Amino acid sequence: MTIFDKISRTLQELGVSDAQGVESLFAELRKAAEHERAELVARGTPQQAQRVGLCKALRDRWLARKGGVLSQVDENWLKPAGKELKPVVGNQFNKLRRFTANLEFEKLVEALPLQQEAAPQMELPLGAAGRAVPWDLTLPGLRRPLGSIHPVTRMQREIEDIFLRLGFWIESGPEIESTYYNFDALNIPESHPSRDDWDTFYIDAKTVLRTHTSPVQIRAMEKYGAPLSIIIPGKCYRHDNPDSTHSPMFHQVEGLAIDEDITFADLKGTLDFFVKMLFGEKVRTRFQPSFFPFTEPSGEVAVSCFVCDGQGCRVCKESGWIELMGCGMVHPQVLRNGGIDPEKYSGWAFGLGVDRFAMVKYDINDMQLFFQGDLRFLEQF
Ligand code: PHE
Repeated sequence: MTIFDKISRTLQELGVSDAQGVESLFAELRKAAEHERAELVARGTPQQAQRVGLCKALRDRWLARKGGVLSQVDENWLKPAGKELKPVVGNQFNKLRRFTANLEFEKLVEALPLQQEAAPQMELPLGAAGRAVPWDLTLPGLRRPLGSIHPVTRMQREIEDIFLRLGFWIESGPEIESTYYNFDALNIPESHPSRDDWDTFYIDAKTVLRTHTSPVQIRAMEKYGAPLSIIIPGKCYRHDNPDSTHSPMFHQVEGLAIDEDITFADLKGTLDFFVKMLFGEKVRTRFQPSFFPFTEPSGEVAVSCFVCDGQGCRVCKESGWIELMGCGMVHPQVLRNGGIDPEKYSGWAFGLGVDRFAMVKYDINDMQLFFQGDLRFLEQF
């Protein structure tokens, strides 16, 4: 009977009833652990990737909570041990625990030699001159597959390019944001019901994962003052369940233009130009009234469906229009909060979802595809 057969029986079944018997059983186990570790090191492994797996297998065999050697010893030897024997078994069990911990199975990854280092032991093929050559140089080489730009990044860059050409520059801000910048400074006081429109991840009472890129409006106003024309691409977070059109992490691009005499006509003109650059000359834009606490007036922008030209199809869900973004004239209080005089300056802002833009533009019906890292999907870009 090997020691591993013995751990599936109780001490009583094994006929062990004194301290000496117990101690010699545990000594056997310690020897086995040390032996298995040494054997793995001696064997080495041909591939880096396998090292981790082999070490983990060894670790699990001994230490896994369910079915590991130690847990079997606990179940079959320690727990059922009689009153007199229990202290000895407990003592030995602790010793075994320390012993296996010191073997540091996890750290073996670094200790395992790659077999390539042991190359001289391999049989070498003989070259034309009868001398041993280490490798067959006529074999085709290993080709590393080229990566490609992620569709969301690609979409973001397309959007950035259009605005960069219009003289905007790119700003960014923190993803872990204070409630002041994410809400208060944007004219969304704590008691305001519209805070609920943003399903927020709170880190503590005063800190959130930003729910939109709009807080960077205020940060940029504080930093640069007016005039200002920037876009702000970045990650945002909302407490949404992932489904085909939602993700708790998503991407926005915010736009902000502040100067003297900026009007809603500038907003319409700029966004109309932007949308035509992105979806083609033929599309038309539609502005509908909406509400955001930080813009007044506020609007929603839709584009005529660039697939069916407004006739109704699968992409526009038979409506002829595709909802694109929220926008509006920056609320005077928001300008003031950013340290800009609303008597002298006015501005417009918009915010759009990059992931949704990418879905529309590349005809993708499930947002989750962006974040699953499936090469069959990503390779198409
Ligand atoms: N921040 C808004 C949102 O996330 C979008 C927006 C930005 C609306 C700027 C108007 C102006 O829903």
